[in-house]
Amino acid sequence: MSGSLRVRSDAPAPVGLRTDYCGTLGVEDIGRTVSVCGWVARRREHGEHLAFIDLRDHTGLIQCVVDGAHTLRAEFVVRITGVVRARPEGTENESLETGAVEIGDSVVEILNGAEPPPFLLDGHTDTDESVRLRHRYIDLRSHKMQANLRLRAKVSAALRHSMEEQGFLEIETPLLWTPTPEGAREFAVPSRLQHGSFYVLPQSPQIAKQLTMVGGFDRYFQMARCLRDEDLRADRQFEFTQLDIEASFVTEVDIRSFVAHAVADATYAVDGEAPDEIVEMTWHEAIDRYGSDKPDLRFAMELIDLSKALAATQFNAFKAPCVKAIRIQGGAEFGRAKLDGIIDRAKEIGAKGLVWMRTVTLPEGVLDLESPITKFLTEDERTGIIQATKAVRGDLVLVVADEYLKVCSILGQLRVDLGRPPVHEGPRRFCWVIDFPMFEGVDDEGHLIAAHHPFTMPHADDLDRMETDPLSVRAQSYDLVLNGWELGSGSIRIHRSDIQAQVFQALGISDEEAESRFGFLLGAFKYGAPPHGGFAIGLDRFVAILAGEENIREVIAFPKTQSGTDLMTGAPRPISARQMGELGIRPPLVSKGARPTAGG
Ligand code: AMO
Repeated sequence: MSGSLRVRSDAPAPVGLRTDYCGTLGVEDIGRTVSVCGWVARRREHGEHLAFIDLRDHTGLIQCVVDGAHTLRAEFVVRITGVVRARPEGTENESLETGAVEIGDSVVEILNGAEPPPFLLDGHTDTDESVRLRHRYIDLRSHKMQANLRLRAKVSAALRHSMEEQGFLEIETPLLWTPTPEGAREFAVPSRLQHGSFYVLPQSPQIAKQLTMVGGFDRYFQMARCLRDEDLRADRQFEFTQLDIEASFVTEVDIRSFVAHAVADATYAVDGEAPDEIVEMTWHEAIDRYGSDKPDLRFAMELIDLSKALAATQFNAFKAPCVKAIRIQGGAEFGRAKLDGIIDRAKEIGAKGLVWMRTVTLPEGVLDLESPITKFLTEDERTGIIQATKAVRGDLVLVVADEYLKVCSILGQLRVDLGRPPVHEGPRRFCWVIDFPMFEGVDDEGHLIAAHHPFTMPHADDLDRMETDPLSVRAQSYDLVLNGWELGSGSIRIHRSDIQAQVFQALGISDEEAESRFGFLLGAFKYGAPPHGGFAIGLDRFVAILAGEENIREVIAFPKTQSGTDLMTGAPRPISARQMGELGIRPPLVSKGARPTAGG
């Protein structure tokens, strides 16, 4: 073998069976004899005895001219040794990194054969996702999955490095645990040694990390696997990963600063650009302006209050505690079917109704509003709406009237439906949403419903209203939002047992229940718990947004489908009757004629 090694700076030096990677060869290598290894991506016949083989590895593709390669088929694993040469003039491929060269005089060694693959990895074919997931090991060879998982590793490494630089210590916490307080349904694991007892898989390391603070570690972090048995969506999986952090003797401002540094370090590692300073808004402002506690700041379409413009309205539907609107630029041209669709969507998300108004220009050149309810509005009211919404020619105004929070959430959802750009478009707009309410309402039994887990510290200024006006009490909690996704959340924790007792009481958690669920934590707090607080960033969501993916499945090596199935392994599966017996579980009763579920 001749020629010196040439490796891209971010690729490790090739060892073993190869001298080079496929995607790194270029004109500088012309004349070198090289050995490359990989999978046959494509084969094209070239005359009677020659074939072009595109060989793929994780770095890219290289074209090899191969003599008598008739047995080679797609996805065969081969080693090709040959001489790098310039492609004949006019046959260069500019869309390929290695498109100026090819490997000639190739000697092919088949390292392993392959069945015809169930789908092609050429990037042009739209393969059904279930086929991709069933054969994920093939799908992972695709350029997209290679890029996504490499990006994930890069983000993860940058976050870890950032936390270490900021003086945080990585501590692993148990997976076989006991209930945690995030509020989702939990996965349980039966104990073989104590029949009838179960471990619970942690929804997050929340309690464990708080205990590391009581244990004096001061700054903890972990790339933590978390498990929640909740309905799966584009941004939710049963298993996901958090960058989980906790620190002692700090304020919420300190925690936000740790997180902002970590996020900036990660985005810098990805594309060399740190994000702009993260804007901050209160929960109330986010709801009022965007109708959401995770506002997507890449576009405006803010909610506009019409209560002044419609203060004296005679139109019954607008005589509500709150009337708000959003303005859709250019929406006046929406046809009847689209408008009906918007009304149906509003109803589906809880609106009693929705009024649309489109701008029209009167013969005298004056702007007016046209709507099925125009006749119920005075001219002053119509002008008031135009002024408040700043509507111009060609705009559409959508109006909802109801209770305040309901109006905000309906218009907030319509704003996203009608205005949200695809995830990969536009700048990254991070934002802190702070000062969440402590409680989000009252349940059927009259108990307050916690907006966060029950260890969240109320705002110091609001403590005296805990009993008199609890719904107005703010929590020392904060979320990080990126392009309309909740990226992470955290809070300052309650470390004093008197405040904890007050909160448990408000939530209707009795002393016995508190003792049985969280007794070990409350016990620990009696032995000198420092003031502390923390945060958790959802790594899967962060990477999905950085990768421009709408679904976190695309950045997870082996994800589950919507119905919670791993199509590749077939999990969840029945286990044998013997295994069930060992775990003290009785096999489910099998009705006559039904296929038994337990094998072995
Ligand atoms: P929370 O429950 O808000 O807070 O979770 C923090 C972040 O974790 C991510 N996340 C998920 N990602 C994928 N699939 C899921 N099913 C899923 N559930 C949550 C989100 C979310 O913002 N212990 C607290 C944090 C703290 O207070 O320190 C917690 O877990 O990005």
